[in-house]
Amino acid sequence: MEKIEPVVTIESLDQEGRGVAHHEGKVIFIEGALIGERVTYSSYRKKPSFENAVVQRVLKQSYMRVQPKCAHFDLCGGCSMQHLDARAQVAAKQRILEDNLQRIGKVRPETILAPIYGETWGYRQRARLSVRHVLKKGKTLVGFHEKRSSFIADMQHCEILPPKIASLLPLLAQLNEQLSVRDQLPQIEVAVGEHVDVLVLRILQALSPADEALLKQFADAHQVQFWTQTKGPETVKPFYPLDAPALTYSMPEFGIEMPYAPTEFTQVNSAMNRLMVGRALRLLAPKSKERIADFFCGLGNFTLPIARSGAQVLGIEGSAALVKRAEQNAAHNGLSANTKFEAMNLFETDEKALAAKGRFDKWLVDPPRDGGIELVKAITPEIAPQRIVYVSCNPATLARDAEVLVNVKGYRIKAAGVMNMFPHTSHVESIAVFTKP
Ligand SMILES: C[S@@+](CC[C@H](N)C(=O)[O-])C[C@H]1O[C@@H](n2cnc3c(N)ncnc32)[C@H](O)[C@@H]1O
Repeated sequence: MEKIEPVVTIESLDQEGRGVAHHEGKVIFIEGALIGERVTYSSYRKKPSFENAVVQRVLKQSYMRVQPKCAHFDLCGGCSMQHLDARAQVAAKQRILEDNLQRIGKVRPETILAPIYGETWGYRQRARLSVRHVLKKGKTLVGFHEKRSSFIADMQHCEILPPKIASLLPLLAQLNEQLSVRDQLPQIEVAVGEHVDVLVLRILQALSPADEALLKQFADAHQVQFWTQTKGPETVKPFYPLDAPALTYSMPEFGIEMPYAPTEFTQVNSAMNRLMVGRALRLLAPKSKERIADFFCGLGNFTLPIARSGAQVLGIEGSAALVKRAEQNAAHNGLSANTKFEAMNLFETDEKALAAKGRFDKWLVDPPRDGGIELVKAITPEIAPQRIVYVSCNPATLARDAEVLVNVKGYRIKAAGVMNMFPHTSHVESIAVFTKP
């Protein structure tokens, strides 16, 4: 007898951009399905209370469904939301932020900030491409992983990488095929700067003279600079050409130029970064002579714009290499006099360690996905800042930390909003402002 496929109606979108439906008491998370759609699906993971699935047939289509621009969208794991209109993606991310704040944080912002969004294609200036020579296919693949897989997608192009880098994907694959180290080159890291495009080759075996000649030829032909990394991050060094301009991004609103090394953390989307830093600074409203802390400061992306106001800024960061870079960048921009940077593990901080830094008028906090729970728990009345601007790449940890700030530490959540830093992916970048009444 023919098996009847279940038909479900999608009720919402989850954090990963999957459609959420219910069937026979189970929650079904369906990739490729949109709110309001009636779909059939095929499950690839079945648990007692939920199933993970991919959409099979769309019986009633959402008016927000669009044709994905990328030919590899169904296969490639680099994007998950190209089938949803770009403005609707932003609205979905805003809903995810509000839901998280309400459900996990039990807080409601007094104001929802208008979303910030920009160019949705060719925006990704930082990327980690995987490389694999696949004997069965008789060729090298260079690209992102396939959805839910450790295989590398066979992709000829990419719509979210800058067009020049996207056009190099098949050429890099051909280049790898000619190298003696073709099986010893698992990754290429991309860093597109204002004056140079850097490709860092992770190589596990020394290049032969013939390999070196091929790489130099490629770099000259396509105007890229190759760097190599043989072991840990300290082994990253430029290979060719050695006289290329420095890798930089800039923030003209604040008269700031930021040099960086290609494996150091920088925001992936520099146009959105400018808008994000601008918004964060307006919300923080730093003033001359104020004492301000920038936690998880990286290379000083927020610290230096804050310092332009004349405030005294302390940047705190876990990576000693980034602390050094931030100090160099402060000097590069003439801001050494009112900035200071310290290395500190902020996941292990406590009241005593934080009190030792003294009281600041305002905080900027921009943690990794795990959030900054130890930091917010360590706030005591003696050192509590009057204002905290919290930038987050994970609404769930922002919501968890917001709960402590509002319900334990007595802050008000004045405003929150999203920034579409990663269009067509499910990543949600957001910002929230907390003040002491
Ligand atoms: C989202 S990035 C933000 C960096 C910077 N604010 C920017 O905009 O470029 C998070 C930063 O937290 C740092 N970090 C990660 N774990 C940390 C820890 N346990 N303690 C302190 N800093 C940490 C990372 O090195 C990274 O620079």
